[in-house]
Amino acid sequence: MKVYYRNSGVVAVPGLNSAFLSRDVLENLGFARLGEDVLIHSTAVIVDCGKISLGSRVRIDPFVIISNRGGVEFGNNVHIGGHSVLAGHAAVRIEDFVGISHYVGIYTSNEDLSGRTLSHPTVPGGDKTTRTASISFGRHSFVGAGSMVLPGARFAEGSVLGAMSRISRPMRPWTIYAGIPARRLLERRQDVLAEEQKYLASLKALR
Ligand SMILES: CC(C)(COP(=O)(O)OP(=O)(O)OC[C@H]1O[C@@H](n2cnc3c(N)ncnc32)[C@H](O)[C@@H]1OP(=O)(O)O)[C@@H](O)C(=O)NCCC(=O)NCCS
Repeated sequence: MKVYYRNSGVVAVPGLNSAFLSRDVLENLGFARLGEDVLIHSTAVIVDCGKISLGSRVRIDPFVIISNRGGVEFGNNVHIGGHSVLAGHAAVRIEDFVGISHYVGIYTSNEDLSGRTLSHPTVPGGDKTTRTASISFGRHSFVGAGSMVLPGARFAEGSVLGAMSRISRPMRPWTIYAGIPARRLLERRQDVLAEEQKYLASLKALR
């Protein structure tokens, strides 16, 4: 059966019954920076692309929502898994080789839920927050599925947050955390650094 794409602004990946935005569409969205080989699924919602900087080989999967007034800076080889959300008022920085799994919430602001003020965006003043702070993900850090990353979270190089966990503070490098609130579980091996060198050499060889 011949397949027709009614929307010419998408590219089909063989064996996948949905589509990523074409380079033309990406270039017209007005990103602050757009690297090479960027894949953004056509169902992802990205608000204010001018505040988003994308390195190369970034992949943003289906149903991701990015609506962060502080902007988001992506390094190279970053993956955002399906249904994840990045929202709030402060900056998010995601360095090279970071993996964000599925259904992850990354919130740079917490709404004021004390009862002193109306809350949520449909009411005046509803965007008042009790805590707004930037969030950063160091190189090779990783967030497990269904986790909550809240204002003030700082992933150091190689930090891991397990599945269904919650973090809102700085983490140690090459250390695995999990739980609510997240606690240190164990040290992480650093073999990925040698793997990274091999991978980067293979990219160079392809050029
Ligand atoms: C955190 C993680 C990396 C630890 O894996 P591990 O080193 O194999 O650790 P274990 O499974 O042996 O668990 C060690 C202890 O931590 C606890 N633990 C592990 N993961 C946990 C989590 N996500 N939340 C709470 N506790 C957790 C275990 O219950 C165990 O406790 P115990 O010693 O009291 O029995 C792993 O559990 C995890 O969450 N991985 C991410 C999974 C994921 O998101 N997959 C989608 C990928 S796209």
